[in-house]
Amino acid sequence: MITKIVAFIVLNLVVTLVTASYLESGGVKKFINTLIEYVTSEDFDQENPDQKTNLRPIIGIVAKPAINKSPYTTFIMAAYSKYAQSSGARVVPIPYDLSDEEIQFRMEGINGLILPGGADWLMEKNNTFTKYTSKVKLMIDHAKRMNDEGIYFPVLGICLGFEQLILFEEPVYEIFGEFDSRDFPTSLKFEVDAKSTKMFQNIDVSQVKDKNLTYHHHFRGFNVSLFTDTPSIKEAYRITSTSSDRIGQKFVSSVEHYNYPFYGLQFHPEKPSYIWIKDKNIPHSPEAIKFSQDLIINFVKECRKNFNAFESRKIENKLMIENAFLNLTLTTSQDIYLF
Ligand SMILES: *[C@@H]1O[C@H](CO)[C@@H](O)[C@H](O)[C@H]1NC(C)=O
Ligand SMILES: *[C@@H]1O[C@H](CO)[C@@H](O)[C@H](O)[C@H]1NC(C)=O
Ligand SMILES: *[C@@H]1O[C@H](CO)[C@@H](O)[C@H](O)[C@H]1NC(C)=O
Ligand SMILES: *[C@@H]1O[C@H](CO)[C@@H](O)[C@H](O)[C@H]1NC(C)=O
Repeated sequence: MITKIVAFIVLNLVVTLVTASYLESGGVKKFINTLIEYVTSEDFDQENPDQKTNLRPIIGIVAKPAINKSPYTTFIMAAYSKYAQSSGARVVPIPYDLSDEEIQFRMEGINGLILPGGADWLMEKNNTFTKYTSKVKLMIDHAKRMNDEGIYFPVLGICLGFEQLILFEEPVYEIFGEFDSRDFPTSLKFEVDAKSTKMFQNIDVSQVKDKNLTYHHHFRGFNVSLFTDTPSIKEAYRITSTSSDRIGQKFVSSVEHYNYPFYGLQFHPEKPSYIWIKDKNIPHSPEAIKFSQDLIINFVKECRKNFNAFESRKIENKLMIENAFLNLTLTTSQDIYLF
């Protein structure tokens, strides 16, 4: 505010002192116009008077490799962006094939990140990360750095995104097991008191323990005993819940990082409200919708603790996901944004 008042005074002085002939010269005009633009620009600070709750959070969502969608190279299922938007966040896509500099620029303007699910390969045969996963690792390394520097930066990994978070602690492919859990709604078994977690702390989890409200769609998963037998992973992530597949094999269903606001869900919380493909067992009951909504409200609440911002509304608007091409496919992806 003070800088605005100073600018206003300077502007008045300049207008008074400069004679008409000077005004004709382009340089002075440009200077005055810049001052006018600055004084009349919207002030972000006024919208966050207490600086404790970000009232205009922006969440980044990683866009994954798109196959046979030329000229587009990456995509985001709209269900993920609608899910984040339903809790009062706006969405900026982060196509994985952007330059490292552009990824860094976007990371520093957003208030949290979602790593979506999908069926991509995470590792090459020689045990190195694929290009997609290497780029996501860059983002997570950056998120860790921000947190280390005192900038609270939350990350939510869903299904494949969750698997990426774990493998970034140590790329031990062996801890994956094969599970019968495709197109599979099931319940959560809490391994810790839900009230002691960040994602579930204020949620009534009684329903989700007994009813099949969470939708799983994966054939790989984390074998609980191998997960906890791997020190680097066990020390980084706390298992908050597990589930069992169709034949009773137990896998990790949700985790929280001990030191960072990083959350992983093996199930798909974005599907109950937004995916309506026929012949799928996605739960659409009011209880399933409520549980999904509670989760994203909690995650966006975490993102509201972050105050990263882009320089101007103009830049924000240019980056918003709504600028992208929305393609209504009739597949399980339903509508997708292409980049
Ligand atoms: C691993 O395999 C990928 C894909 O085949 C290749 O691009 C990469 O150079 C390989 N890395 C090493 C260290 O061999
Ligand atoms: C999990 O790992 C244990 C220990 O190696 C093994 O006995 C069990 O079969 C594995 N389960 C699955 C589903 O991979
Ligand atoms: C949940 O699914 C399991 C099969 O995985 C089934 O045995 C059980 O009856 C279901 N529970 C409810 C409440 O529908
Ligand atoms: C959009 O989706 C439709 C239906 O799946 C498809 O035929 C069309 O080619 C898509 N457009 C693009 C640009 O991918």
